Amino acid sequence: MLDHDILIVGGGLTGLRAAVGLCDRFNVGLISKVYPTRSHSIAAQGGINAALTNNPDSRDDSWEKHTFDTIKGSDFLADQDAAEIMCKEAIGIVYEMEHWGCPFSRFPDGTIAQRPFGGAGYPRTCYSADITGHVLLNTLYERAVAKGVKIYPELFVAGLCIEEGQCHGVVALDMKTGELIPVSAGVTFFGTGGYGRVYQHSTNALINTGSGIGMAYQAGLPLKDMEFVQFHPTSLIGTNILMTEGCRGEGAYLLNNQGERFMQRYVPSAMELAPRDIVSRCIQTEMDEGRGFEHPLGRYIQLDLRHLGSKKIIERLPGIRNICIDFIGIDPVLEPIPIMPCQHYSMGGIDVDKRCASELPGFYAGGECACVSVHGANRLGGNSLLDTIVFGKLGAQAIGEDLEDGVPRPDEKAILRLKDKVEEKFRRLAAPGAEKPYRIHAELGAVMNEKVGIFRTREELEQALDKLIELKRRYGDVGVSSPVRYMNYELTAALELEAMLDVSHTIILGAILREESRGAHFRTDFKTRNDGDWLKHTIARMGDDGSPVLSFKDVTITRYQPTERKY
Ligand code: FUM
Repeated sequence: MLDHDILIVGGGLTGLRAAVGLCDRFNVGLISKVYPTRSHSIAAQGGINAALTNNPDSRDDSWEKHTFDTIKGSDFLADQDAAEIMCKEAIGIVYEMEHWGCPFSRFPDGTIAQRPFGGAGYPRTCYSADITGHVLLNTLYERAVAKGVKIYPELFVAGLCIEEGQCHGVVALDMKTGELIPVSAGVTFFGTGGYGRVYQHSTNALINTGSGIGMAYQAGLPLKDMEFVQFHPTSLIGTNILMTEGCRGEGAYLLNNQGERFMQRYVPSAMELAPRDIVSRCIQTEMDEGRGFEHPLGRYIQLDLRHLGSKKIIERLPGIRNICIDFIGIDPVLEPIPIMPCQHYSMGGIDVDKRCASELPGFYAGGECACVSVHGANRLGGNSLLDTIVFGKLGAQAIGEDLEDGVPRPDEKAILRLKDKVEEKFRRLAAPGAEKPYRIHAELGAVMNEKVGIFRTREELEQALDKLIELKRRYGDVGVSSPVRYMNYELTAALELEAMLDVSHTIILGAILREESRGAHFRTDFKTRNDGDWLKHTIARMGDDGSPVLSFKDVTITRYQPTERKY
């Protein structure tokens, strides 16, 4: 049995930052189902928000203005005390990463470069060309290695051990050997990322299955605000690779099949830099009303960079250019990029407070798998990288404080009991079954895409629910093709599928229940925000029959009374 004071699950920015914050005082282990530098944080492109005031147009910016933009962007569903903390911490976090060696792009005066992003009053998104996640992740990984954090790559968590109201650790599958490894820990911290892959079209990596969220939920923890799913306006047609908001931050246009900058008709004051939920709806409307382009890979809108000129494109957006050339044979210097909106981010997640503490002693979570909530109903671009590092840091601080009197002793017998249950599950999945996990996953992705998308109606959501219930039933017949446990991706897919079905169930039920439109949740049958009935968080717990049971929680309002959200 592996034994650590603190076990961190997830090797992305949140997990690494938490590990760096704890490893001087505690025996920390970090396990990740991939090599940490392959975590999805690597895919973040456009930048990280902090009111540094380096841009000549942002001299009047402040963390308070950043907070206000975040809360307004959230359609007033964010907990305002938490948003304040995140935006105040942002400045120190960015300088800390700079001091730890992160190669940010620079202005001519040597200060960290900042570009405009959607829904922000000032250009406050700090960046490194279009590979900001890449440089941040490598910086934190180097820091964690230098500080001697014990990292276990390619360990796949197969069960979270909760007994007698305490978290005792996990049981993990060593993907290289097929061995089941019990891991005991006084404290477990999840930084396991989002669930993008429950949708067929997502900017997310294939590893973003939401299995951490699902595992916590299955272990009895509540999820918060799951109906709020972010659809990024600009993903490359076909592969859905992210085409960063940084393109529009640098001045790119969105064009319909009339050659029109259609955002002029919807949000003339913000144009392409309206918040994501709004831009995605505008693009979808253009396509739905026949003003999109047709392509064998689907309908699209153009993202036009050509007027920026090759020098700026090559300096600020080199990754975007290379991706377009490599994946679709288009050079954005010469041709517009065909884009479509698709799933990008989960505003909801494991219900934690602003210290990343869950309701369960010994279990904490941060980053995209968690809902603090700082993003409410719609996250602003550039606030995700910020959330990961800020709450990795603050989660570590909170754990340190909570362990002042010593590290709780986990119950090793409880972990061994869980190991037996996981063994049993593996045996069941290895038996011949009529259903294959990839088939059910594909059907899940399709129904989430078609019925739980940018525009929602009760009728379609109920159809999605019916399909989900059918898929859950069919999951009972899933069997994998080979009983081999090492490097058997069908086996891990089968395990993750169960979590994906549960996570999707909470998204769909939350979306049915919330009869209003707020941020990214747009009901065409309830088109306006309804603060009287719905200014509240949705909480989903797994009921005895395996279905979510929903309840509500107040939103924390400090300085900003909700008003109509106008741009
Ligand atoms: O568009 C982007 O570069 C994505 C940024 C984000 O999700 O924060």
